[in-house]
Amino acid sequence: MANSPEYYINLEDKYGAHNYHPLPVVLEKGEGIHVWDTDGKKYFDFLSAYSAVNQGHCHPKIVKALTDQAQKLTLTSRAFYNDSLGEYEKYITDYFNFDKVLPMNTGAEAVETALKLCRKWAYKKKGIAENDAVILFATENFHGRTLAIVSASTDPDSKGGFGPYLPGIQVIQYNDADALEQALEANPNIAGFILEPIQGEAGVMVPDEGYLKKASELCKKHNALFIADEVQTGIARTGRLLATCGNCNCENKDCSGTPEVKPDILILGKAVSGGVFPVSAVLADDEIMLCIQPGEHGSTFGGNPLANKVAIAALEVVKEERLADNAYQLGIIFRERMSKIDSPILETYRGKGLLNAVVITPFEHEGKNKTAMDVCLDLKENGLLAKPTHNHIIRFAPPLVINENELNDACDIIEQTILSYQ
Ligand SMILES: Cc1ncc(COP(=O)(O)O)c(C=O)c1O
Repeated sequence: MANSPEYYINLEDKYGAHNYHPLPVVLEKGEGIHVWDTDGKKYFDFLSAYSAVNQGHCHPKIVKALTDQAQKLTLTSRAFYNDSLGEYEKYITDYFNFDKVLPMNTGAEAVETALKLCRKWAYKKKGIAENDAVILFATENFHGRTLAIVSASTDPDSKGGFGPYLPGIQVIQYNDADALEQALEANPNIAGFILEPIQGEAGVMVPDEGYLKKASELCKKHNALFIADEVQTGIARTGRLLATCGNCNCENKDCSGTPEVKPDILILGKAVSGGVFPVSAVLADDEIMLCIQPGEHGSTFGGNPLANKVAIAALEVVKEERLADNAYQLGIIFRERMSKIDSPILETYRGKGLLNAVVITPFEHEGKNKTAMDVCLDLKENGLLAKPTHNHIIRFAPPLVINENELNDACDIIEQTILSYQ
């Protein structure tokens, strides 16, 4: 007989660190846009592992790439060449139109890599005196969990109690081009500005039209690097191959919105592998990337043969299945459906492509105070998995292989759940 969900939950509780607060559902299978729990109940996955599973769970082409390669060669380290790394490097640099890639594993590692690269460039090319470089971050940023990254966080939960913090960091207001300009003008030691084009963890905060372009132009004017962290927004999630777009060989004819921004450094993770395997990437042109020389940075697993083959397959799927286009079209339908939900608890909704959020006003129901977490628990009962970010925001980010009928079925669940509180 199968174990109960409580069995698995208790195991994690007893033997795992308590650094997450999961929804009480134990998953054992995933296919496309669906996941199943240990009792066999089927759910729409509207989180997609924080936008890692854009290509859908267990995509057969990506899984095949993994299993084929797993039987041949999994890891060489970078002490030797292997027969798939160059092929992958050529593929991903052509795909996103950069000279070079530096392969890593997780998103946070790729962000760290970009920060190190930015500092090296500042000393070697910009002429900033050693140890004086400053990197700008935006308020409410989320770039991962390492010490350098949390040093720049404005979220007390992420940052508190982990000091002393890394110097050489300055935080400016997100979505405020004047704040960026002032910071750049005030300090010639600014080496770069790192930004999520849409802030995912902050609650899907979409910047004003033109902000990204202005930010990149200001960085160029002041000879500072514009670093786009597209770990969550990249790989078709926002209805275009990249949320910064403009120079990505995007085949999505229906792209609209922010035009023509090419970051100096592009950071990708999550869906680079379709959620099959941790793969991340830092892309830049030679002038910047070649500032790092042998022995100065690396990772045992970065550029491993499994990752290379998986990433090529995952990126092929994005183009073959026109996922940017699908995210763009269905994003419009999703927001249209949210606009029609007539409920006092639905404060607002926002997003781009299939990265969306609904803001919930805290409310009372049947004598109890309710938050976004309670709504997520009820959504789960009704067959849809999503997770709150902060107390009052629910992010909705299904795999991009979802079709219109499925999206409408999922929107019915969201609508009925929200209306059930009246
Ligand atoms: C924008 C952004 N950058 C970096 C990261 C960190 O990625 P990882 O969890 O793979 O380290 C995340 C994770 O959610 C993210 O959303």
